[in-house]
Amino acid sequence: MAKKKVRVGLVGYMFMGKAHSLGYRDVAFAFPDVKAVPVMKEISGLDGEEARIYAARYGWERSSVGYERVCEAKDIDLVDISTGNDSHREICLAAARNGKHIFCEKPMAMSVVECKDMIKAVEKAGVIHMIDFNYRTVPAVALAKQMVEKGMIGTPYHFRAVYLQDWIIDPEFPLVWRLQKDKAGSGAHGDLNAHIIDLGRYLCGEFDSVCGMMETFIKNRPLLAAQTGGLSAEAAGDMGAVTVDDATLFLAKFQNGAVGTFEATRFATGNRNGNHFELNGSDGSIRFNLERMNELEYFSRKDKDAYQGWKTILVTDPTHPYIKGWWPAGHIIGWQHTFVHQVYNLMNGIATGINPSPNFYDGLKCQAVLEAVEESVETEQWVKVKVDY
Ligand SMILES: NC(=O)c1ccc[n+]([C@@H]2O[C@H](COP(=O)([O-])OP(=O)(O)OC[C@H]3O[C@@H](n4cnc5c(N)ncnc54)[C@H](O)[C@@H]3O)[C@@H](O)[C@H]2O)c1
Repeated sequence: MAKKKVRVGLVGYMFMGKAHSLGYRDVAFAFPDVKAVPVMKEISGLDGEEARIYAARYGWERSSVGYERVCEAKDIDLVDISTGNDSHREICLAAARNGKHIFCEKPMAMSVVECKDMIKAVEKAGVIHMIDFNYRTVPAVALAKQMVEKGMIGTPYHFRAVYLQDWIIDPEFPLVWRLQKDKAGSGAHGDLNAHIIDLGRYLCGEFDSVCGMMETFIKNRPLLAAQTGGLSAEAAGDMGAVTVDDATLFLAKFQNGAVGTFEATRFATGNRNGNHFELNGSDGSIRFNLERMNELEYFSRKDKDAYQGWKTILVTDPTHPYIKGWWPAGHIIGWQHTFVHQVYNLMNGIATGINPSPNFYDGLKCQAVLEAVEESVETEQWVKVKVDY
């Protein structure tokens, strides 16, 4: 039987637009068992000429300006929201109104209130929804999840995570949208902590309460002349105020009694994209470093005393999660493959009518933690994480 075709409209053609395009392009090539096949119909963004150029470069059939046409087109089934955070909600509502399935970038929105609006809209429309916490589909992270579920670390005690970048360390780096609260919601917090909060929920459990601190080191920057790439830009002459955090750190208590520490910063000199975590339990520990993403470190207390020690598992065997789509053992994969894996789960969700994971409920729960940390910073107190939906 012919496979279902899912006609995709992608809003946003830059950093994530490119990553998601690779996901749609390669999914059926890598995973012949995928239950539905994406058709790359239309790509759009703020500039029509750029949209046209990227459509040709990435392999989309056509392009448009804005998001309205993609959301309304009769020949589109799935709207992919790869735009800045301030437009996720409005694009989601337009897409859901037109009965489209939705794949949305993280953080899900600017606030918990916006997330709830988005959930109401997809529930009303009865469409499939997914959020792009792509690190869940790094094979080593998915293996870590399997090991936790098999009880290989026992009772979790600590989840320790950092997400370290340094792309704005230069005070002359301009005021891109990521540094403006009205466009981004928050800075390193919503951008980077969102990922490690999701990994904390995925691997350790639901959050109970948090206590945080935030810092903005460079308070004024040159205005933006042009965005030149994913995290690169050219400066203009005049100065403007940075209105988001450069770094946010927080302590957490999980509902299962484990404790956590989280650090997100764009000022960790020398760390280009350092996403690391460690989970310590009663029987063992797991350690991951994105810069060595094909490896997972594991320590077991069940090994004989004399032989205990950290072992490094090269997560490239055909038995490992998602590896069946790629190469023989030892032939490593990279960051862009996580987007192929996300699209694989998304296509299977659309074909079966079962929401993939992570979905909008995960997006909301992450946002609730982000917001509780912000409240804690303002009140200088511990704050309970509330998800009243
Ligand atoms: N999952 C990840 O690893 C990851 C990495 C980077 C960014 N992100 C997230 O992806 C989203 C996009 O980030 P990016 O780095 O790709 O941004 P970007 O600045 O590189 O690209 C944003 C795109 O959105 C388009 N756009 C913005 N507002 C629009 C609107 N109202 N209508 C139509 N198009 C609009 C722009 O034209 C541009 O093409 C953000 O939510 C960000 O947090 C996720």
